[in-house]
Amino acid sequence: MLIRRPDDIPASEITDERLYLNRRSFIATSGLLGVAAATGALPGCLKASPSDEQASDKLTPYEDVTTYNNYYEFGTGKEDPAENAGSFRTRPWSVAVEGLVRKPAVYNLEDILRPVRPEERVYRLRCVEGWSMVIPWLGFPLASLINRVEPTSQARYVEFTTLHDPRQMPGQRRPVLDWPYTEGLRLDEALHPLTILATGLYGRPLPNQNGAPLRLVVPWKYGFKSIKGIVKLRFTDRQPATAWNKAAPAEYGFYSNVNPEVDHPRWSQAKERRIGEFLRRRTLMFNGYGDQVARMYAGMDLRRFY
Ligand code: MTE
Repeated sequence: MLIRRPDDIPASEITDERLYLNRRSFIATSGLLGVAAATGALPGCLKASPSDEQASDKLTPYEDVTTYNNYYEFGTGKEDPAENAGSFRTRPWSVAVEGLVRKPAVYNLEDILRPVRPEERVYRLRCVEGWSMVIPWLGFPLASLINRVEPTSQARYVEFTTLHDPRQMPGQRRPVLDWPYTEGLRLDEALHPLTILATGLYGRPLPNQNGAPLRLVVPWKYGFKSIKGIVKLRFTDRQPATAWNKAAPAEYGFYSNVNPEVDHPRWSQAKERRIGEFLRRRTLMFNGYGDQVARMYAGMDLRRFY
């Protein structure tokens, strides 16, 4: 994010929904995917758009979602993750749960996924660089995992950590960030029903470049909060350090709520370019999810807690 300029966008000519719906029926008929593909209608998040502007939300083409990425462990260019993450091993995979919880353990991915039924959530993803996408994720509420591991009453935050494996992640051989990538949420944010752990998109397993096998998605926050390749959740009573906040504290705060009224020190956040579109759109407070999330920040000075 420090390297690329905002609005450095590829043109896209592929139509989105049609492609997805075709794919979807392909996936459904070929039996690769059960629940999500079978649901048929477009998911609720699209229908419950918060404004007319958002009602024109169209899905970002699969091609763009999976080739225009930020995943610095695989390089800092937008095309690097798709080019370099192909052979990344996502099995076996485990997630350590540590800190202020009653059931700390190293969980196999299969144990995490067995009791959950990934469902489809169409969310806007707004990158702090000034572009956005609309992505049909497959995922499950982070809350369901948190409730299973039983945080103690002292737990107030969750820290997330990405795998550290420079042999597999060439970007980690260079000191671009203080590896491993970490992120954090306040516990109420982590428990919010909009917050999901994604395991797929467009009815398919998550591509490596999008954060397989498990990545966070917090739709009212800038994209960098959506940490990929998660191997650890640590529950704490102190606000955790985050990779981007450590790298540039004046630019990337802990909260990172999408806020068109608080500019990035080097560019405005008032507008965004939807990937595949030419004209820029107005950025909405909390990325358009204010009705659901604003109350968590009641009384907070969002300029100070950016
Ligand atoms: N997670 C890790 N581990 N490393 C990263 O570099 N980039 C973040 C976030 N998660 C990043 C990460 C940023 S800046 C964004 S905008 C989103 O992932 C991009 O997600 P996408 O490539 O699936 O669109």
